Amino acid sequence: MELWASPRRNDQVIDSFIVVLGVVLVLLSTYGVESRKARDIDCFDYSAISCRSHSASLTDFGGVGDGNTSNTEAFKAAINHLSQFISDGGSLLYVPAGIWLTGSFNLTSHFTLYLDKDAVLLASQFESEWPLIEPLPSYGRGRDAVGGRYISLIFGTNLTDVIITGDNGTIDGQGDSWWQKFRNGELNYTRPYLIEIMYSDDVQISNLTLVNSPSWNVHPVYSRNVVVQGLTILAPVTSPNTDGINPDSCTNTKIEDCYIVSGDDCVAIKSGWDEYGIAFGMPTKQLVIRGLTCISPTSAVIALGSEMSGGIEDVRAEDILAINSESGVRIKTAAGRGGYVKDIYVQGMTMKTMKWVFWMTGNYGDHPDNNYDPNALPVIKNINYRDMIAENVTMAARLEGIAGDPFTEICISNVTIGLSKKPQKLQWNCTDVAGISSDVTPTPCALLPDQGPEKTACNFPEEGLPIDDVKVQICSSSRKKL
Ligand SMILES: *[C@@H]1O[C@H](CO)[C@@H](O)[C@H](O)[C@H]1NC(C)=O
Ligand SMILES: *[C@@H]1O[C@H](CO)[C@@H](O)[C@H](O)[C@H]1NC(C)=O
Ligand SMILES: *[C@@H]1O[C@H](CO)[C@@H](O)[C@H](O)[C@H]1NC(C)=O
Ligand SMILES: *[C@@H]1O[C@H](CO)[C@@H](O)[C@H](O)[C@H]1NC(C)=O
Ligand SMILES: *[C@@H]1O[C@H](CO)[C@@H](O)[C@H](O)[C@H]1NC(C)=O
Ligand SMILES: *[C@@H]1O[C@H](CO)[C@@H](O)[C@H](O)[C@H]1NC(C)=O
Ligand SMILES: *[C@@H]1O[C@H](CO)[C@@H](O)[C@H](O)[C@H]1NC(C)=O
Ligand SMILES: *[C@@H]1O[C@H](CO)[C@@H](O)[C@H](O)[C@H]1NC(C)=O
Ligand SMILES: *[C@@H]1O[C@H](CO)[C@@H](O)[C@H](O)[C@H]1NC(C)=O
Repeated sequence: MELWASPRRNDQVIDSFIVVLGVVLVLLSTYGVESRKARDIDCFDYSAISCRSHSASLTDFGGVGDGNTSNTEAFKAAINHLSQFISDGGSLLYVPAGIWLTGSFNLTSHFTLYLDKDAVLLASQFESEWPLIEPLPSYGRGRDAVGGRYISLIFGTNLTDVIITGDNGTIDGQGDSWWQKFRNGELNYTRPYLIEIMYSDDVQISNLTLVNSPSWNVHPVYSRNVVVQGLTILAPVTSPNTDGINPDSCTNTKIEDCYIVSGDDCVAIKSGWDEYGIAFGMPTKQLVIRGLTCISPTSAVIALGSEMSGGIEDVRAEDILAINSESGVRIKTAAGRGGYVKDIYVQGMTMKTMKWVFWMTGNYGDHPDNNYDPNALPVIKNINYRDMIAENVTMAARLEGIAGDPFTEICISNVTIGLSKKPQKLQWNCTDVAGISSDVTPTPCALLPDQGPEKTACNFPEEGLPIDDVKVQICSSSRKKL
């Protein structure tokens, strides 16, 4: 109503129309003459945690979007140039419509990488375009192989205020050749991720489509204040380790409104591996996951671990839709991990066609080397699941703690699980766990005794986390060019 009643609004509509008309005229007059520069950054709005004073287009640095020319040097030159504005209002690099083949490149601080809706970043398939970097200190080795790892396609370390966003532009990892080499044991180093941001503060990754990552898609690690929003992540469900979003030793992270179809966990929360993770000692904490749709036939919708040696605490997940996935929430750990998973809260999950709704694994194994301490036992406690509906489920729960180190304070309430045509006979298989349940069908195991007709609701904290106070603003692409 207000929109049409307000004369100011009408003026704005007319103003916008004139602007659009102007842009169209400019485009028409320059198209084919100097189209690359003219079309670029002229005027668009986007949402971001901070706006920028300077901007440039990849084409200003010799970029060619023909899907065949390598743009690695253009990206390096552009970001190198734009890094001069770090303390002068920051900068935005615009990637126009086109197919931009590139090897790995590094981001800078107070910087936004913006992809047009028809821009595709196409990852190079030459290994030489992917420099090797050290393994993560909290892992002690690469995840696929001992030693170093290929740097991610888009990499940033020790940054402040870095944004990767767009109008749903695409980043294509062309993972197929990596998956084949991995399966054939032909890789000497760990496969690259699509986006990795290390040791950074104030990170936004939003409104993009990521396809066919060689391995994990989005990996914020040792970072704080991270917003991941509006990502569509697609990979064949048979592709190896194509996890969606893996917050790893991060504080204050939000993952919101993402759609993920992948060959591994949609979201996997991590914090380092066995003795390396224990020594590094950096937990993942204060994590919000909200509005996630996941299809993961061979893995979890939300996994905690298996690398959790720095600890995982205060995770709040809600408003989750899972379709055809192996398990809903899964805790993965093992003797040797040390660390903890505690204060986990999940509510409002709808699941269609699942093998297991709940899964906890205390014998995941999978150690970085033989130097782990078998007496380093993980502490798993205060795990809360409530308000869930599942249908076509093979088995409600498989909850397997560690002998002598039970998983405790488990609470499950208001959960209705509909079974498949051929369900398991034993619906709840619980060992070395302790907790309670209320209003759950089918009836949970005796280790999670029902609290009786007086219904108990498991906890979900009412107060928000600091990351919810981080607001995005509407920014205009700057016309203050080079
Ligand atoms: C993503 O795009 C939607 C509109 O499609 C917008 O409302 C939202 O603010 C954007 N979010 C970010 C973080 O870019
Ligand atoms: C693609 O690029 C290579 C060099 O990188 C060149 O030899 C080849 O001619 C190009 N192909 C097309 C179709 O442009
Ligand atoms: C990016 O940064 C990493 C780590 O600092 C470094 O090893 C790599 O060479 C850099 N890549 C480029 C293209 O500069
Ligand atoms: C990045 O920060 C970490 C942790 O503070 C530090 O150990 C490392 O040396 C820094 N790296 C660079 C390239 O500055
Ligand atoms: C972004 O693109 C993907 C892939 O084409 C599509 O599935 C998704 O709906 C798009 N997202 C938005 C917000 O338009
Ligand atoms: C891996 O290492 C072996 C032995 O050093 C070498 O023959 C092979 O070419 C390497 N493969 C790759 C993909 O680098
Ligand atoms: C039980 O969970 C459903 C969602 O599955 C929700 O709609 C309903 O409000 C919950 N009931 C109570 C009493 O919280
Ligand atoms: C139920 O799950 C089975 C696999 O367990 C699947 O084959 C079947 O299509 C699903 N049925 C429905 C109605 O989704
Ligand atoms: C229940 O789980 C235990 C491991 O915790 C396993 O040894 C046992 O075979 C399972 N029982 C059934 C009937 O699946």
